Amino acid sequence: MSPQSSEPAAGGIPGDLGPGALAAARSARFGSPVRALATTGSTNSVALEWAAQGAPEGALVVADHQSAGRGRLGRAWLSSPGCCLLFSLVLRPAAPLDDLGALPVAVGVAAAEAVARCARVATGLKWPNDITVDGRKLGGILVESRTSGPGPAAVVAGVGINVGWRAEDIPADIGGRATSIAAEAGTAPGRAELLGEILAALEDLYPASLDEAWAAAVARAHEARSELIGREVAVRLGAGGVVSGRAVRVLASGALEIDAGRAVIVGSGEVEAVRQAGA
Ligand code: BTN
Repeated sequence: MSPQSSEPAAGGIPGDLGPGALAAARSARFGSPVRALATTGSTNSVALEWAAQGAPEGALVVADHQSAGRGRLGRAWLSSPGCCLLFSLVLRPAAPLDDLGALPVAVGVAAAEAVARCARVATGLKWPNDITVDGRKLGGILVESRTSGPGPAAVVAGVGINVGWRAEDIPADIGGRATSIAAEAGTAPGRAELLGEILAALEDLYPASLDEAWAAAVARAHEARSELIGREVAVRLGAGGVVSGRAVRVLASGALEIDAGRAVIVGSGEVEAVRQAGA
C-alpha cells in the first residue's frame, strides 16, 4: 500500500473497524491516510516507520490486535482481538519537541473526554495520562517521536483503550488494576465510533499554535479530571527513587508538582500509591 493511500490495507479489519466505519471516524485533519491491520506487533512501531517514510500529519495506524504492544516505561500493553481500540496517530507539530511536554497530556485529556461522552463512563486521569475509572486503568497513551526522515519532526500518539473486555476476560496479570468500558457500562460503543470521538476531541485540543497558553489550558483540563491533585501520592521517578507528598498541580511542561515538604517537580515517573491527604 502506498503511504499516501487513504484506503485501508487489503484484508483490513472486519466488523466494527471495517473500511466504512474507519472512513466515518475521520475528523477534518486526523484519520487519513489510514493503515488498518488485523494484527501487528505495535501500531506505534508501524506509525514511526511510516513517519520516517513521510507519512503526513493525521496519518493513522489502527489494529485489531497487537502481539508486542508497548506501554510507558518499557512495559508491555496487553490486548485481545476484537476487545481493544489500538491506534497510533502521526502528528507533525509546528513547535520544537522540547516544548511539547503538554502534548501527551493533551492526548490523555482528549481520550478521557471522548470515552466519557461516547460511552457514558465517568473517566478520570492519573498523571501523566492514564485514563481511569475509580482508580482502575481503562486506557493508556504512549507518545513517541522520530526526528529523522522528511518533513518536520514526527510525533506518534499511541492510544490503547479497553473497550469490549468483559470483567472476567481481563488478563489475570492486570485484573484488579484494569477495567474496560464494557465492564463499567455493561455495553460498549463500536471501536470506530470511539475512535472518531477521540480524533475529534484531539483536534479541539491540538491548535495550530502550540504555545504556552495552550499548554497551560491543557494542564488545567487534565487537573479537572485528575484523580491525584490534592491527594497524597508516591511517585517512582523515571530516573530512579521515589517521591512522596501531596500532588499540587500539573505544569504547562506536563510535569507534576508535588509538595514533599518542598516543591518537587516530577517530569517522568509512575504514580504507585494514592490516598486522601491526611488519611
Ligand atoms: C501505557 O499506559 O503504558 C501506555 C499504553 C499505550 C498503548 C498503546 S496501544 C496502541 C499503541 N501501540 C503500542 O504499542 N502502544 C500504544
